[in-house]
Amino acid sequence: MQHKCASVVAGHPRADGTVLLSRNPANLDDVVAEVTLGGPETFVDAARAARSAQPAWAKIPAPVRGQVIARLGRLVEANKAALARLITREIGKPYAESLGEVQEIVDTCDFFLGEGRRLYGQTVPSEMPDKQLFTFRVPVGVTAIITAANFPAAVPSWYLVPALLCGNTVVWKPAELAAAVGQALAELAWRAGLPQGVLNLVQADGKATFEGLDQALRNGLVDKVGFTGSTDVGRAISELCGRHLQSPCLELGGKNPLVVMADANLDLAVEGALFSGFGSAGQRCTSLGTVFVQREVHDEFLSRFSKAVEDAVIGDPSQDVLYGPLIDTRYAERFEEYLKLVQPHHTVHGSTGTGRITDANPRKGFIGHAEQGIFVHPTIVDGITKDDDLYRNETFGPLVGVGGFDTFDEAVELANGHGYGLSAAIYTSDASNAFRFRERCRAGMVSVNNSTSGAEAHLPFGGNGLSGNGSRQSGVWVLDQFTRWQSMNWDYAGKLQKAQMDMVELPEADLAFRLEG
Ligand code: UN1
Repeated sequence: MQHKCASVVAGHPRADGTVLLSRNPANLDDVVAEVTLGGPETFVDAARAARSAQPAWAKIPAPVRGQVIARLGRLVEANKAALARLITREIGKPYAESLGEVQEIVDTCDFFLGEGRRLYGQTVPSEMPDKQLFTFRVPVGVTAIITAANFPAAVPSWYLVPALLCGNTVVWKPAELAAAVGQALAELAWRAGLPQGVLNLVQADGKATFEGLDQALRNGLVDKVGFTGSTDVGRAISELCGRHLQSPCLELGGKNPLVVMADANLDLAVEGALFSGFGSAGQRCTSLGTVFVQREVHDEFLSRFSKAVEDAVIGDPSQDVLYGPLIDTRYAERFEEYLKLVQPHHTVHGSTGTGRITDANPRKGFIGHAEQGIFVHPTIVDGITKDDDLYRNETFGPLVGVGGFDTFDEAVELANGHGYGLSAAIYTSDASNAFRFRERCRAGMVSVNNSTSGAEAHLPFGGNGLSGNGSRQSGVWVLDQFTRWQSMNWDYAGKLQKAQMDMVELPEADLAFRLEG
């Protein structure tokens, strides 16, 4: 089946625009969707629609908005297999991981449906009599959410669900490489009972989106931006928002380290590195960048890790594989550039070749038809040092570096020195290493004896440094992105009481008093 996708503004599909074909990366002959891409004006119209729908949506009591989120969760659950199949078909994620991705939406809905009944403010004592202080969470207004292709459903739900629950309206721009998944998720949200204009879908490329966002911000139509994607685009969006005194919610790249101490359970570390580095073909923000192994176990780790990667099954993502294709040919071209960063002092492991898997450059044990899709060999690059480009650059794809260290201090320095700070893992059997690493590592998320990926939907998700501006998604923490605090004071004294001036007098204190002896 071929889908037809277009922007939907206030419930109306937009027919104007250029047409893009979204293809199955495991089989490029399979056209998943014909996508009509809108221009900057589509984005601005969507923001205008969101602006006019916002007051009425905010007026619906939060517990009732929570019921819409509850229905969305149930609808997603009932459509779990179909949505997961579409994710696998459109972006090539192995089906088991696609099911996990859909489950993450359900978990997010389950968390936030209850938040509609909380969304707590506080009552705060006043320093004056007959006066009471309060705090309230108020919606921010119109939110513009721009998301990436690698998690085309779960990550958008991290923004959409809390934004809507909090009383905001949304302009959502999914990745054009995942247009059909975007449309499917939006359809489920509309069917859950969102009023028209509360969620608007914009199918557009990056350039049109950026121009549209610029215009919408200038016209005062957007109050908060959420963006998941590359550090470079995040920086540009952040600059744009800064001009309007806004701070976006950013979820950017990573160069996520995994430290293996000599006291670690090596089999566990190998299993963690395999899933962190090569799950989703290394196309997660939380994918493993470099494994740093304490010198005395380096060779043993490398040989077990290389064997695990050599033996892993790669190919058709509808089968039981470690990973399937890259999301797009663009990604494969970029991956070839990353391979050029391999230096003579490095050694390469993990497969029967590097680069594109083809009939002439086959992969042992490959399942499916490599030449029909965009499949690349897994690559381990050993000998990474602090001065290498591969140490510093995010290499979105199935490439994992390995380096050695002698002391714990050195491991911490290597884990932090590249400037990213999204996720980091340590494998150790010594609790003091785990806590010391947590304390000194700059990442927003730390795993102990676990993969760098696989965050749960109700813990704060986000990074520091090149990985983000400190904003956090998920759980109660994301409420600070989609609401603003409003304070209220109410004086019922019947006279003007001036703060800091009309002070309540206490009996005298004798501060010179000391106990004897
Ligand atoms: C991302 O890589 O952008 O932690 C999101 C994970 C998933 C989400 C990753 N739960 O791997």
